[in-house]
Amino acid sequence: MSSPAPLVITIDGPAASGKSSIAREVARALGFVYVNTGNMYRGMTWAVLQAGIDPADAEAVAAFAPQAGLSCPVAEGRTQLHWQGRALTDEELNSDPVNRAVSHIARVEAVRTALVDAQRGLAALGGLVMEGRDIGSVVFPDSPYKFYIDASEAVRAARRSAQGHADQVAERDRLDSTRKTSPLVIPEGARVIDNSTITLQEAVDQVLAALRAAGLVAA
Ligand code: DC
Repeated sequence: MSSPAPLVITIDGPAASGKSSIAREVARALGFVYVNTGNMYRGMTWAVLQAGIDPADAEAVAAFAPQAGLSCPVAEGRTQLHWQGRALTDEELNSDPVNRAVSHIARVEAVRTALVDAQRGLAALGGLVMEGRDIGSVVFPDSPYKFYIDASEAVRAARRSAQGHADQVAERDRLDSTRKTSPLVIPEGARVIDNSTITLQEAVDQVLAALRAAGLVAA
C-alpha cells in the first residue's frame, strides 16, 4: 500500500524576511508541526565546529555529515534540534561563529542530502509547516501549498540587528542564491508575500486566506 501524500505547507524566503514568525503562527493556527530547516543547517554547522572541522573544508564536512549525530524530536508543536543527546539552544544556533559558517556548510551536497532526507521523513508526523530556502523547490516540490516571503534588504538587516544578531544578511543571501545545489529561488507555483511593510498578523492572515481559497482550511 502506498503511503498518503505528505501534507506540507512550504514557506521559503531570504534571511530575516520574517518567514519563521509567519510559519510558527500558521502552524499554531492549524495545529500543524512547525519545522525550521534553517535550524537543521545551523545545527549541522554547530556540530562541524565542535568537531574541530574547518567549515571551508568541503571534503571533511561531507565525510562528517552523514554521521553528525543530529536528531529532530518534536516538542511543543515544533521540531527541536538535538546533538549528542541534548537540545541545542537558540543562542548556540544563532551564535556568530554559526552565522559566519552556515552558508558554507549549506553548499556541501552531502549535507543537503542528509538534511533533505530527514526533512522528507518528518512528513510521517502529519501536517507540517516547513520553512527554509528550498522547501517548495526541492524538498516538497509537489505541495499545492507553497509560499515565498520577501522583504527589502533594509528591513531584513534592521530585523536581524534588532534581534541582537551580528549577521551579514546580504552576504548570506548572495551565497545562498548563487550556490550550485538548491539555490534560493521562488518555487514554481508559490504565492509571493512582500513582508516589508505589513504586520505579522496581516502576513499570517494572507497565508490562511490563501489556504482557505485552496480548500485546505474551512472557510
Ligand atoms: O533560515 P536561516 O537564516 O536560519 O538559515 C540559515 C542558513 O541555512 C541559510 O543561510 C541557508 C541555509 N539553509 C538552506 O540552505 N536551506 C534551507 N532549507 C534552510 C536554510
